[in-house]
Amino acid sequence: MREFAKYLVELSCDELSVPSYASGLKDYNYFANEYGYSDPSGYDSVRSFVERYFVGYQLGRLEYYLPILKSAIPQNSKILSLASGRPVVEALMSELGYDVTCSDLEVFREFEKVKNLFPHLEYRKLDVVVDEIPAGYTTILALGLLYLFDEATLRQFFRKVAEGVAHGGLVVVDSAISPDTMTSYLIHDILLRSEAHLKKVYYQLQGQKAAVRKVSYGFRKRHSEIIQIANEVGLAHFKTFSTGVSIELNRSYILRTLMRTIPGMSSLLKLMAHDAPFVNVYAFRKL
Ligand SMILES: C[S@@+](CC[C@H](N)C(=O)[O-])C[C@H]1O[C@@H](n2cnc3c(N)ncnc32)[C@H](O)[C@@H]1O
Repeated sequence: MREFAKYLVELSCDELSVPSYASGLKDYNYFANEYGYSDPSGYDSVRSFVERYFVGYQLGRLEYYLPILKSAIPQNSKILSLASGRPVVEALMSELGYDVTCSDLEVFREFEKVKNLFPHLEYRKLDVVVDEIPAGYTTILALGLLYLFDEATLRQFFRKVAEGVAHGGLVVVDSAISPDTMTSYLIHDILLRSEAHLKKVYYQLQGQKAAVRKVSYGFRKRHSEIIQIANEVGLAHFKTFSTGVSIELNRSYILRTLMRTIPGMSSLLKLMAHDAPFVNVYAFRKL
């Protein structure tokens, strides 16, 4: 398990301290600000919602989930989605006929507007670290959550979902960050960090004040770490869906430029970085 940090260049600053969010656990306001949960746009129609929050959103990461979830989760499942945030994938699943209840630390601020578009969707308040998982669900889904947890919290999380999900039911969870591999280390901790410092120097050479802020987002885990912790609480792993290498490559200015300008570079880099896919959906069955 390795710290997952981003290196952000801030202008008009000389020196910055590491922000107070040292672990992956943060309050709801942090996420609401970070991911624009109060943004009132995009709720006029299903089409505007999809165009605003699904297609191409956050480097297109949500688009990867839908086909994976359709293949992993039976249509007759009763799904509880944890950490749903703005429930985009869940809304589209409900439109496909899935029975989905969303949840998060708070009910999503614009949920009434989402429900106007997707009337079968439900939303409840649920803190997965503190609260028990309510009974009666045959699939527990969590997208974009695991990256937040350190090892102790990850253990607690899997224990709770294993206790909460029905016997024979599914637990389908996504890490929302590449696994802890040499390639992801090179991209995140060497390349992106160096690019941030180069960018800072570029601004400074132009006479601007600039500093690099290291922001702690959570933890990258190896596939085996996640699977083993889940196995220990009676969740049998049956498939990992990994995709979205280009999301990780496109974070880098240098790699983006190489891929844009040199024919064949995109395919070559995707091959070389095959062990650093951004989307990793782990599917388990409760024994
Ligand atoms: C990166 S967002 C993911 C939102 C959405 N599932 C997605 O994939 O776009 C992480 C979400 O986890 C939620 N979260 C963080 N800690 C949580 C906890 N202890 N219990 C429930 N949700 C939590 C946050 O409120 C936030 O909405």
